Formats: sequence, C-alpha cells, structure tokens
Amino acid sequence: MAYKTLKEVLKDAEDNNFTVGAFNAHNLEMVPAMIEAAHEEGAPVVIQTSVATARYVGMSNFVAVCKSMATNEAVDVVLHLDHARDIKDIEDAIAAGYSSVMFDGSLLSFKENIEKTKRVVDFAHARGVSVEGEIGTIGGTEEGFTVKEGNYTRPEDAVKFLQECDVDALAVGVGTHHGQFQSKTKLNFPLIEELHKKLNRPMVIHGGTGVKEEDYHRLTENGIRKFNVGTEILVAWTKKAKEMFGETEVNNSLRNNIIPCNDEVNKIIKHKIELFMNK
Ligand code: 13P
Repeated sequence: MAYKTLKEVLKDAEDNNFTVGAFNAHNLEMVPAMIEAAHEEGAPVVIQTSVATARYVGMSNFVAVCKSMATNEAVDVVLHLDHARDIKDIEDAIAAGYSSVMFDGSLLSFKENIEKTKRVVDFAHARGVSVEGEIGTIGGTEEGFTVKEGNYTRPEDAVKFLQECDVDALAVGVGTHHGQFQSKTKLNFPLIEELHKKLNRPMVIHGGTGVKEEDYHRLTENGIRKFNVGTEILVAWTKKAKEMFGETEVNNSLRNNIIPCNDEVNKIIKHKIELFMNK
C-alpha cells in the first residue's frame, strides 16, 4: 500500500474487474477524509485536483498530504491532475510529485490532440508518471444539456488515437456532462459497449455526478476503470458548511464546523466505492 501511479491502480482494477473512484478535492481540508474513506473500504483511490485548485492549495502541499497518508494509512493513493490543457501545468505537477496527469486536448483538432498528447506521454512516462487522454468531449457545467452527436467519442477516432498515443487511460464522451447535479443523464450504452470491444485500454467516465448509480455496475462490466466524481462532493460539503456556518457563533472553533463537512465527503466516497467494488 503506497503512493501509486494511475497505471498501477488501473491494472489492479482490470485484473479484479472493479472501477477505481476518482474524487475531486476542492480544498485541502477534505483530502484526509477522502483517503480515510478509501482506507476504511480497503480500496485504492484517486485524489484529483483541477489546475485551479492545485494552484490555490499548492501542488506540493497536495503531494505531501497524499504521500504521507498513503504510507501511514496503508492505502493505495494516486494524485492526479485533472483536465490540464497547458503543458506547463503538467510539467509543474510532475515536478511537484503528482503521480498522474490528464492532458485534455479535446478542444483541439484531432491531429493537434494527438501531437500534444504524445509529447505529454513521452515527458510523463520518462518520469514514471501516468497519463490520461481524452477523445470526444464531455459537455457541461449547467443543467438542461442536450448531447450533440459530435460530443460522443467516435470509435474509429479512439482506435487511431490509441495507436498513436500510449496513454494509460482514456476519457470518453458517452453522454455525461460535468456539473450535472440536479438531474441524471442517459448514457449511450451501445457506444460504451462498442468502445469496450474495440479499445484495449482502461476507460474513464467524467461527469460522474450526473450518472445514475444503477448504471455503475454495467459501466464496470464494460471496461470503465476510473470514474470521476466532483460536483456531488462540492455540493455536499457546501450544503453542510452553509448549515454549520449559518448557525455558528463567530468564536466557535472552526473545526466544529468543518469536521461535519468533511464527514459528508467521507460518507459519499465510502458509498461510491462500495458500488464501484461491487460490494
Ligand atoms: P462532476 O463534477 O460532474 O462529478 O465531474 C467530475 C469530473 O469529471 C472531473 O473531471
């Protein structure tokens, strides 16, 4: 049990047919509660940060907490940079000690996405760091989405992308949207099944907040090995914080208000991991 790369934990997931939960940390406070949840479930965990949150907290601070908890709590922890579009952010995260990075070239032309992802893979793999790429797009940030045909990953593009780019995991557009917390999405299962048959690579679901829990099992059966949850954690933490801080005396210890918020995160993560592990 240790600080691991994404490649290592996804191999474990593939060999034992489960999905690894990847949870967005929105501040440093919630990270111990996240890792503790994985420890209690006896499962590996991916802690991921957006570039903006990584800059806010400090990349090396995230690394320090994840490394020390991985060692002291005896749990496999990956620290992953989510949706980096700028290679400088990837270089900085790797220098700070992140064990995995995502290069999101989904807004680039197909050719440019391949070129840049290849550069990231060469750079990261030479330093023992894993890489997630993306093909197709994941819509999002507001409710009331419509999935445009162009958002879906085209299987022939994904096959070509993987021939060119040796990524350790591939984010696919299969009907999910980032930030969908007031409704649930309809996944394109025929496409997921086709991708699973054609791609011999762990696939990643983004926008996990908007995915119905009853769909999780079918996703695991179809090669989804990393499943991202961000907004659900943010919303739970913020709701509890509003409740706690709304009622508090101004001289009450901060921890009395913050521990319940972190406990909400812990509960969500344990519940998700149980579903991902098929418990
Ligand atoms: P949600 O915030 O919609 O759960 O998505 C998380 C995610 O995919 C991060 O990349």
